[in-house]
Amino acid sequence: MTRYAHVTGWGMAVPQKILTNQQLEEMVDTTAEWIASRTGIQERRIASDHESTFTLALGAAQNALKTTTLDPNDIQLIIVASASPDHIFPATACLVQDSLGAINAGAFDLSAACTGFIFGLNMAAQAIRSGSLDNAIVIGAETLSRIVNWEDRNTCILFGDGAGAFVLQASETPGGILSCVMRSDGSGADLLSLPAGGSRYPASQKTLDQKLHTIHMNGREVFRFATREMASATREATNIAGLSLDDIELIIPHQANSRIIEAAARGLRVPMDRIMMNIAKYGNTSSASIPLAVCDAIDQDRIHPGDHLVLVGFGAGLTWGALVMQWVEAEREIAPTRRLRRMVIVLFARLRSLVLRLLRRLEGLIWGASSKRN
Ligand code: ACO
Repeated sequence: MTRYAHVTGWGMAVPQKILTNQQLEEMVDTTAEWIASRTGIQERRIASDHESTFTLALGAAQNALKTTTLDPNDIQLIIVASASPDHIFPATACLVQDSLGAINAGAFDLSAACTGFIFGLNMAAQAIRSGSLDNAIVIGAETLSRIVNWEDRNTCILFGDGAGAFVLQASETPGGILSCVMRSDGSGADLLSLPAGGSRYPASQKTLDQKLHTIHMNGREVFRFATREMASATREATNIAGLSLDDIELIIPHQANSRIIEAAARGLRVPMDRIMMNIAKYGNTSSASIPLAVCDAIDQDRIHPGDHLVLVGFGAGLTWGALVMQWVEAEREIAPTRRLRRMVIVLFARLRSLVLRLLRRLEGLIWGASSKRN
């Protein structure tokens, strides 16, 4: 029996706070007109003090789960793709796992910058197709506002915060994730990076003074690489799926720059009405941009059951990739009794988490006291 991996749930979470191009005019030497005409961005969301990549990822996962038939304790795998995780470790995915009440899930973070959501989706889909898992949640989540140099007009105007999530489930019905191309070129690692904070350049006064804990980017080179590889990866993934570009109802590209998207569309000879673009609202949200664009496309009624979609992205690494999927009809109406059951499950999972923390503390105290006696 052939197994397929279908997207059965999707959700997003973005901060309330909006930063407009006009507001950026007051912060750096730029104009609202320059930003809009050179990037297509009008505004972006910025996390408040109480938000982080974890809280946005959790919000997106909860929204994605709400409309599936799965309970949190049914979830078997959680992947968080992020270039701005809460910590180097523990994984943000583990924080999501705990708060979601996914007590039976394995969880890990994936680092492939803006291509991370595509890589994560492919990994989860392959695990489901092979029979190793029955379901997974893949999340793209970022708070890039925390790692942007707000004095650098070349980068600070581009990025925004947000998260998007897909629930994947095994099915015998053909469709779901059909093909994927995953590529990397580490010779371009220096073109886009967060140089310090890892083992190579640990935090020091020098790294702080040189602003090495913020995004460094060669915009022109990234632009050239992106326009070239988006088109070729889209073609390759479509071919592998046994389809032609004419069979694709909607291409959902990483939202980095409207000019990159338009150039890739021209290269593919695909009209812009078959390309999803929502960069004006959110800016570049890295790994979150593709799931955010999918959620917006669904809200705009641009995705229908049976449609073939290409998700295509590129980012630091360098990394790039494209994934072809066939959208399926998902069950969206959940019975109120099920919602209640889920609330109870989450409540129990939170209680369990609290008890585990308390027990660990108690155990530590007992051990401490007995080792002093000895
Ligand atoms: N306002 C006004 N002028 C600016 C600004 C700004 N915000 N930023 C740059 N400029 C100036 C530059 O200084 C330059 O001036 P100069 O010629 O006197 O030196 C001029 O505008 C043109 O600079 P370019 O770099 O050629 O501008 P370009 O049209 O290429 O746009 C941009 C720059 C928007 C950064 C573009 O190159 C781009 O989008 N590149 C891709 C970036 C990207 O996608 N990064 C994310 C990858 S995904 C991930 O992994 C996070």
